[in-house]
Amino acid sequence: MRQSLLNVLLLLLSLAGLVVSYAPTKAHCPKHEQSLLRTAKSLSDDETKWIAKRQKKTTKSFIKFLEGSNLTDFTEYDSVKDLVHSFKKPVTLAAAFSGGGYRAMLNGAGQLAALDSRTEGADEHGLGGLLESLTYISGLSGGSWLLGTVVLNEWASIQSIIDQEKIWNLTSSILYPSTSSTKNLLYFEKLFKAAVSKKEAGFDISAIDIWGLALANQFFPTLEYDNLTWSGVQKLDAFRNHDMPFPVISTNSGPPGSNLSALDAISTEFNPYEFGSWHRYVNSFTDLTYLGTDVVNGKPTGKECTKGFDNAAFIIGSSSDIFVGTGAAILFAGLGAYTALPEVADYLDQLNPEYESYAIYKPSPFYEFDNDLNPFLQVSEILLSADGGSSDEVVPFEPLIQPIRGVSTIFAFDSSADTDENWPDGESLWYTYERLQTYDNGSIPFPEMPTPETFISKGLNKRPTFFGCKADSDVPLVVYVPNINVSHASNVSTSTLSFSDEQKLAFIKNGFEGATRNNLTEDSNYRTCIACASIAKSLQENNIEFGTQCQSCFDDYCYN
Ligand SMILES: *[C@@H]1O[C@H](CO)[C@@H](O)[C@H](O)[C@H]1NC(C)=O
Ligand SMILES: *[C@@H]1O[C@H](CO)[C@@H](O)[C@H](O)[C@H]1NC(C)=O
Ligand SMILES: *[C@@H]1O[C@H](CO)[C@@H](O)[C@H](O)[C@H]1NC(C)=O
Ligand SMILES: *[C@@H]1O[C@H](CO)[C@@H](O)[C@H](O)[C@H]1NC(C)=O
Ligand SMILES: *[C@@H]1O[C@H](CO)[C@@H](O)[C@H](O)[C@H]1NC(C)=O
Ligand SMILES: *[C@@H]1O[C@H](CO)[C@@H](O)[C@H](O)[C@H]1NC(C)=O
Ligand SMILES: *[C@@H]1O[C@H](CO)[C@@H](O)[C@H](O)[C@H]1NC(C)=O
Ligand SMILES: *[C@@H]1O[C@H](CO)[C@@H](O)[C@H](O)[C@H]1NC(C)=O
Repeated sequence: MRQSLLNVLLLLLSLAGLVVSYAPTKAHCPKHEQSLLRTAKSLSDDETKWIAKRQKKTTKSFIKFLEGSNLTDFTEYDSVKDLVHSFKKPVTLAAAFSGGGYRAMLNGAGQLAALDSRTEGADEHGLGGLLESLTYISGLSGGSWLLGTVVLNEWASIQSIIDQEKIWNLTSSILYPSTSSTKNLLYFEKLFKAAVSKKEAGFDISAIDIWGLALANQFFPTLEYDNLTWSGVQKLDAFRNHDMPFPVISTNSGPPGSNLSALDAISTEFNPYEFGSWHRYVNSFTDLTYLGTDVVNGKPTGKECTKGFDNAAFIIGSSSDIFVGTGAAILFAGLGAYTALPEVADYLDQLNPEYESYAIYKPSPFYEFDNDLNPFLQVSEILLSADGGSSDEVVPFEPLIQPIRGVSTIFAFDSSADTDENWPDGESLWYTYERLQTYDNGSIPFPEMPTPETFISKGLNKRPTFFGCKADSDVPLVVYVPNINVSHASNVSTSTLSFSDEQKLAFIKNGFEGATRNNLTEDSNYRTCIACASIAKSLQENNIEFGTQCQSCFDDYCYN
């Protein structure tokens, strides 16, 4: 009786177009490409071309940002425009948004809003104009939810998300969205059907497929799953017009049996064109559009390629699999209520039991790749992915510190829960520094970082701090912005899964205030100091002296 009611409702839903394909499809392979893989000796041609066009826009925006920042040094130049045009290279700025579940997503939203001219008040008492000046932006786990939401909703402003009600409706848990059990059944039925359709198309599934689809329901409620791919970002107007920074999502990946939490784990990135890694074990990238294609040494083995494997729901699910990581516990606890659904039984049957709590990337794009690939990776037909923060590097620096990308200042927004009270203590910066010291032997410049003990004792987790001010010009300057309580106790645990609308807004407001020294009330020069931090490396590179104004900012904000 209940079953037939469900079927009728499901039929209605499918007629309404709400049940859509999540399964990858077959497509012609790209003619122009011999191989879908390349060794990462350079940036992809697509990225190089895109960045050149983006930087025409960022240079203009950045000059405008500086004009609104009361820079009084550099009197030998007629204008900040002349100053910026005197630099040998465009100023390349980037922002990284940490993991930390909804806490990180919502604080991050406020921090992002503080940089965005489209936010009410951001030009007057914030850092409005800086977002428009960024070349790159990265996110992992909770930070990938933030990044995914704004990017796929056509570079939506946080202001516009606040002003509507569909996106980020977090009032009820993602596991029990409705008080009506019939509605919940339908909700889950839809997710399970989608996941099983992927299995039926020949691809292994795990708990991450369901997790990602559930997230998509909150982040992209008005979009359709079937064309919601990360490579689809290429087709968005805001991307084609270079109106957003180059968005990159980080995960950790490796062949089965490798330790995805080790300090030296492989950090992988999804950018709109490619998937791959700069890690010495991989150092290769594959065309993201055709991820999921059977390949040997990068060459498709069949006549047709796979498309749609890079579903955005799956990718942000992969980046945030920590929620599912511990034995898929949270998800399967939630599923207890739904075992009556045939889709759930189907799904549980179809799961690959060995890897149920990892995201499964099979076939692996790196299979038998003939370069200096790690031998385990080279022979593995499966690539597993886990949370981008699995190895405690919760701020996604990796895509931004590659020398080839030439980033000079990185804004690092950290909402991780390092202390017992769920505040950050700089541990993530320390791990990145430590890893580079241990494994990279100086090939990737990064500022020297203090230990978490020093971080806490110097109060560096209580307000923004600049790192790498005095280091060589090839070392990026890091502007570290911790999650702090300005007006809201924004330290809820990572596993908090629902927020009232008031809480949501309080988080976003607090994030804005934390990123702006409480709307410039704690330091009316803060915007000027951020301007100084943004040009510091270019000044150094071009042998231009700081004046007293920037010097006094560095005295205030630089570590060491
Ligand atoms: C601009 O900066 C100068 C020098 O630091 C300072 O004296 C002045 O008060 C600032 N003006 C504003 C509007 O903040
Ligand atoms: C700070 O600015 C934001 C954005 O304009 C605003 O929402 C918030 O209320 C302001 N905070 C204070 C304490 O005025
Ligand atoms: C938000 O979600 C809840 C629970 O599903 C629902 O009752 C409410 O109507 C939704 N709000 C909006 C504005 O869609
Ligand atoms: C996805 O499909 C919808 C409906 O066909 C369309 O409006 C939208 O522009 C598409 N989005 C992308 C990124 O292609
Ligand atoms: C994986 O690496 C982490 C961090 O070094 C370590 O704590 C953990 O014990 C390792 N796990 C296994 C299974 O070796
Ligand atoms: C939040 O921080 C406050 C003060 O630091 C602490 O008392 C409280 O226990 C923390 N809350 C959580 C949920 O960790
Ligand atoms: C690290 O770099 C130094 C100096 O460039 C070099 O002498 C040394 O051999 C390198 N060590 C490793 C393990 O690559
Ligand atoms: C957070 O800050 C508000 C405003 O300053 C204060 O009332 C509250 O006690 C703080 N909460 C915590 C947990 O620190």
